[in-house]
Amino acid sequence: KGKRAFIAGVADDNGYGWAIAKSLAAAGAEILVGTWVPALNIFESSLRRGKFDESRVLPNGSLMEITKVYPLDAVFDNPEDVPEDIKANKRYAGSSKWTVQEVAESVKQDFGSIDILVHSLANGPEVTKPLLETSRKGYLAAISASSGSSISLTYIASERIIPGYGGGMSSAKAALESDTKVLAFEAGRKHKIRVNTISAGPLRSRAAKAIGFIDMMIDYSLENAPLQKELSADEVGNTAAFLVSPLASAITGAVIYVDNGLNAMGVGV
Ligand code: NAI
Repeated sequence: KGKRAFIAGVADDNGYGWAIAKSLAAAGAEILVGTWVPALNIFESSLRRGKFDESRVLPNGSLMEITKVYPLDAVFDNPEDVPEDIKANKRYAGSSKWTVQEVAESVKQDFGSIDILVHSLANGPEVTKPLLETSRKGYLAAISASSGSSISLTYIASERIIPGYGGGMSSAKAALESDTKVLAFEAGRKHKIRVNTISAGPLRSRAAKAIGFIDMMIDYSLENAPLQKELSADEVGNTAAFLVSPLASAITGAVIYVDNGLNAMGVGV
């Protein structure tokens, strides 16, 4: 039977979440997505109006179908956690049941269960600030939105110095990679669930453009990585599809680099 996947962090057709959805759909999975509440309207209307049709084409020529789009804000577990100003915000007030627990309950009601969970979201409100100048609030916000999960996307800034990847995002990715290992143990023993993360190279996504130095990182990788080609989101999508498939049945607790090999370099040449 086909597997059912929930991909959190899809709001356009440029990012890793979209590419992962496509690779999973191409492999026969049913696709559910979680879209950040403030981005929901534009994503759904673009989808309806056919703006993504070109990027929905799968290798066999058919179009990827998204069975359901759930509004989601991953920093709130339940309605009690939501502050008044967010509740009153008109972009949030138009949707309901978008906290993590409510979305999980809705998916359960709608479909019973899922087989695959993908965390492809991040938010560092102070990502453009150096860590030294990051406020407690900004730091905690980065950790809150950007760590946690079953398969997730991380970045080498967790373990090496990447100047410019600030606001506690490097810390959030370090937490994510550590959690990947501990969760692999706990979920593996308890439920036989595998937990992995992909350390991806630079991609010109919406989130990455907000950091401000993405073009420089892409150029740097082109110049210095073992494989001197631009990284496509599909290469990360295909790795995710592999990792959640039975082909990867003995892989858990792993950080898999999909970065044209850049992580292996000691110095640039
Ligand atoms: P993206 O912009 O396509 O995806 C980020 C998504 O997170 C957006 O759809 C945004 O709406 C959503 N989001 C933000 N805050 C949220 C919240 N509180 N609740 C729910 N959704 C929320 O960008 P991208 O780059 O594809 O990001 C996906 C993952 O890949 C992130 O974890 C990112 O850190 C990671 N990554 C990206 C790299 C890059 O160069 N683009 C490199 C390595 C990792």
